[in-house]
Amino acid sequence: MGIGSPNRSAPSRPTQLSINGQIISLEIQPWVTLLDLLRGQLELSGTKKGCDHGQCGACTVLIDGERINSCLKLAVSLDGTEITTIEGVGSPQAMHAMQKAFVEYDAFQCGYCTPGQICSAIGLMSEGRARTRPEIRELMSGNLCRCGAYTNIADAIEDVLGRLHSQVREAVE
Ligand code: FES
Ligand code: FES
Repeated sequence: MGIGSPNRSAPSRPTQLSINGQIISLEIQPWVTLLDLLRGQLELSGTKKGCDHGQCGACTVLIDGERINSCLKLAVSLDGTEITTIEGVGSPQAMHAMQKAFVEYDAFQCGYCTPGQICSAIGLMSEGRARTRPEIRELMSGNLCRCGAYTNIADAIEDVLGRLHSQVREAVE
């Protein structure tokens, strides 16, 4: 478990979540993390478990559009929220711009960190704080890559951010 010592006698709690656009109602034991719920009960194994302690970013998903380490969130605390996992970001037939960029820039090797990197990069774009490559590297530093694909990951994100900024510039000109 990634969070404390669970009280196994505590009753399950009714929880409603929107997962990748689908509303689901569940009875969830109070010690179950969002990561374990996604990978176990919901069989959404695209979200990866690395450290299970909030230190690697492999489990990053979007909760109400914000990037979060799902191993650090108890699922019952998320009642009423909207959760997007890598399965909801895009599909092989209809990839998100960030997924396309990761393919184009060869921004992965084993791929284990990639779902978390992509969800984190999408969250980073909505935060609007990264405008330069050093800012991208700094603000993506919570997502580790054991294969060391950092240069290509930054290339992919920089490209998508650059295109986003030029679209914004064109819209205001
Ligand atoms: Fe959640 Fe590592 S598995 S941060
Ligand atoms: Fe292997 Fe990042 S691509 S851990």
